[in-house]
Amino acid sequence: MPRSPAAEIVAGVEARLAAAGCIAAAEEAGELLAAVGPRAAALEEAVRRREAGEPLAWITGLTRFCGHQVRVDPGVYVPRPQTELLAERAAALLAERAAAGCAGCTGAARAVDLCTGAGAVALHCQRSVPGAAVVGVDVDRRAVACARANGVTAVLGDLGSALGDECADVVTAVAPYVPTAAVAFLPADVRCYEPRAALEGGVDGLAVVRRVVAEAGRLLRPGGWLLVELGGEQDALLAPALTRQGFRDVAPWEDEEGDLRGLAARLVRPA
Ligand SMILES: C[S@@+](CC[C@H](N)C(=O)[O-])C[C@H]1O[C@@H](n2cnc3c(N)ncnc32)[C@H](O)[C@@H]1O
Repeated sequence: MPRSPAAEIVAGVEARLAAAGCIAAAEEAGELLAAVGPRAAALEEAVRRREAGEPLAWITGLTRFCGHQVRVDPGVYVPRPQTELLAERAAALLAERAAAGCAGCTGAARAVDLCTGAGAVALHCQRSVPGAAVVGVDVDRRAVACARANGVTAVLGDLGSALGDECADVVTAVAPYVPTAAVAFLPADVRCYEPRAALEGGVDGLAVVRRVVAEAGRLLRPGGWLLVELGGEQDALLAPALTRQGFRDVAPWEDEEGDLRGLAARLVRPA
């Protein structure tokens, strides 16, 4: 049976994306068409951008995260599926605190999302625990504007420097954590397009994460939880900094392949 004109267009886009090396070419073709429509000039520009390796989410302006539609502006780190593991854990801990309260705490449950980017983690925490006070922080103006466009209360700043002592119940951070030498092995489109300051974390990848640990010691109430995304064997490398800051009950988590994806730790005494 002959294909309809619409099916012809999808098949043409899919073939071009597959030839350019896109792994999920059919899915991406559908997303591009849904975002820009079948108008030839707009579609051609969108396909060319994707063929050149630009992140799909920058072209469509959207990605999905924990079931939410998240706006992603060009220049802003695209939230990754593996980060959903961190966001779900953080939202569950925040919901526990909101339900149970805590000795000496007043007011709403509070969360701080350091290195918020487009605000995906903060957005998930806010939507999962509607009464909670959630704030995102990023050092990049484009990220802060994007997080705000996603409905997140977001402030510009170097980690927690723009915040007071928050007495937060949960601090999250997907800080840059790729070791400098490993940046060269990231996929070409990530390396060429996404901001290096969102990715690279110094020699062992933990330069910013160690500062996050120190900041979390100040921002969290005693008993509050820090959740950070990690990879490789960074949990062992981070252990001394966590202990020094008074964190205990360290619980790493892994993905389905058994790879380390992050850890949670509870503050037992303020730094
Ligand atoms: C790996 S991205 C993660 C973004 C977001 N949390 C997510 O998962 O989609 C890291 C983010 O940290 C921000 N960042 C890097 N250094 C920072 C710092 N010192 N203070 C605040 N934000 C920082 C970058 O601008 C970037 O948006």
